[in-house]
Amino acid sequence: MKVYHSLSENMLTVNMLLSVFFLSGVSAGGCGGHQITFVITTPKSIVALNGSCLQVPCSFTVQVAENDFDRGEQTSAKWIPSNKDIFNISQGFNNDQINITGNIKQKNCTTVFSDIKSRQETEYFLRIVNSKFRATACSTPLQFTVQDSPEKPRIEPDLKDLKEHQSVTVTCSAFTPCPHSPPELTWNLQQDSLRQTEKNTDGTLTTKIQENITLSDTHDGYNIRCSARYPVIGGIKTSETEVTLSVSYAPKDTSASISPSGLVSAGSRVELSCSSRAKPPPRFTWFRNSEHGDMNVSVGKVYSFNATEGGKYYCVATNDLGKNRSSVILVTIKGNS
Ligand SMILES: *[C@@H]1O[C@H](CO)[C@@H](O)[C@H](O)[C@H]1NC(C)=O
Ligand SMILES: *[C@@H]1O[C@H](CO)[C@@H](O)[C@H](O)[C@H]1NC(C)=O
Ligand SMILES: *[C@@H]1O[C@H](CO)[C@@H](O)[C@H](O)[C@H]1NC(C)=O
Ligand SMILES: *[C@@H]1O[C@H](CO)[C@@H](O)[C@H](O)[C@H]1NC(C)=O
Ligand SMILES: *[C@@H]1O[C@H](CO)[C@@H](O)[C@H](O)[C@H]1NC(C)=O
Ligand SMILES: *[C@@H]1O[C@H](CO)[C@@H](O)[C@H](O)[C@H]1NC(C)=O
Ligand SMILES: *[C@@H]1O[C@H](CO)[C@@H](O)[C@H](O)[C@H]1NC(C)=O
Ligand SMILES: *[C@@H]1O[C@H](CO)[C@@H](O)[C@H](O)[C@H]1NC(C)=O
Repeated sequence: MKVYHSLSENMLTVNMLLSVFFLSGVSAGGCGGHQITFVITTPKSIVALNGSCLQVPCSFTVQVAENDFDRGEQTSAKWIPSNKDIFNISQGFNNDQINITGNIKQKNCTTVFSDIKSRQETEYFLRIVNSKFRATACSTPLQFTVQDSPEKPRIEPDLKDLKEHQSVTVTCSAFTPCPHSPPELTWNLQQDSLRQTEKNTDGTLTTKIQENITLSDTHDGYNIRCSARYPVIGGIKTSETEVTLSVSYAPKDTSASISPSGLVSAGSRVELSCSSRAKPPPRFTWFRNSEHGDMNVSVGKVYSFNATEGGKYYCVATNDLGKNRSSVILVTIKGNS
């Protein structure tokens, strides 16, 4: 009982201390564990393109009474670079260069950085201030990297394991740092593919073009090239991707040949050879027409035998996707009919 009592006394003290710290946090807005919990959420990795603009999706949570946001009261928000006093809002920015386009009252701190330059590769801290509270998101700086050349566009799906007759939607998509100037996408498929800019789950943007294709053997080995052209200050930056289609197909153009050609002497050697286009490579089976139906006489590309009588032969090429037969070839013995 005694222990219990002193425990709750201790908890009371802790609670009182916490409220004191909370209040002092409210008034001073300091950082060091005792301030208002204020954290921003942005994508894990943010990549900007030199000379373009950058939209950073951003939201935040702040541990203050909800109606401090709802009261119609003006809450100002600014980004303060790490080399400035991050607790002094007058050292921060929210202007045409660093424009908070999100609605702060809805805890949306989405920001557009115009005209990205390499010197912008720094940390920024969000500070919000109104008459009820002030806070800096010290534990969650905003940082991005600036690249001089854009990332390569992506071609999807994986075009390595396809089959003929299959219908696929091929997509070329490119990262889109700036919503006002998305990249122009072109490829060597259909030229009038519709361009669309979509929002990803993390709020970043992707621009894509799509085309449906029904695959045939002629697509095997075809190279799809997609290029993205980004408008940047002072010109255009381009990046390109190429993928090679790999399409499996049933045997085609199956044909049989005979050597020597023409009439052969009875008992001499004859060689029949079969060829076909197929992916994966086909197996070959030789058949001979007879009164009792077609007889399987040999397997393998080449069938050689000593011809004692004439006959009609053909070959069949087979793989996992299907089969195809050659036309009939005649073996004719000299002097016989
Ligand atoms: C905040 O920054 C402004 C402008 O840089 C400066 O004039 C002011 O003295 C600073 N305030 C404090 C409390 O440091
Ligand atoms: C920020 O961008 C919006 C349009 O998204 C524009 O209306 C506003 O004027 C810009 N703010 C500044 C300070 O440039
Ligand atoms: C935040 O604001 C941006 C810019 O106005 C907007 O595009 C986005 O949809 C908003 N996000 C949410 C979650 O409302
Ligand atoms: C960005 O471009 C400028 C000139 O256009 C160049 O001086 C700078 O080095 C580039 N920055 C990066 C990170 O490539
Ligand atoms: C591709 O096919 C899907 C359904 O199979 C359809 O919804 C889509 O509109 C088609 N896209 C194009 C570019 O034709
Ligand atoms: C064999 O394939 C060709 C195409 O190369 C096709 O025109 C023909 O109909 C096929 N024949 C058989 C018997 O499958
Ligand atoms: C097949 O014919 C060749 C000559 O064309 C001969 O040398 C060989 O012995 C023959 N083989 C048989 C099994 O008759
Ligand atoms: C042809 O005969 C061989 C050997 O007897 C056998 O392995 C093969 O499966 C047969 N092929 C067909 C298509 O009947």
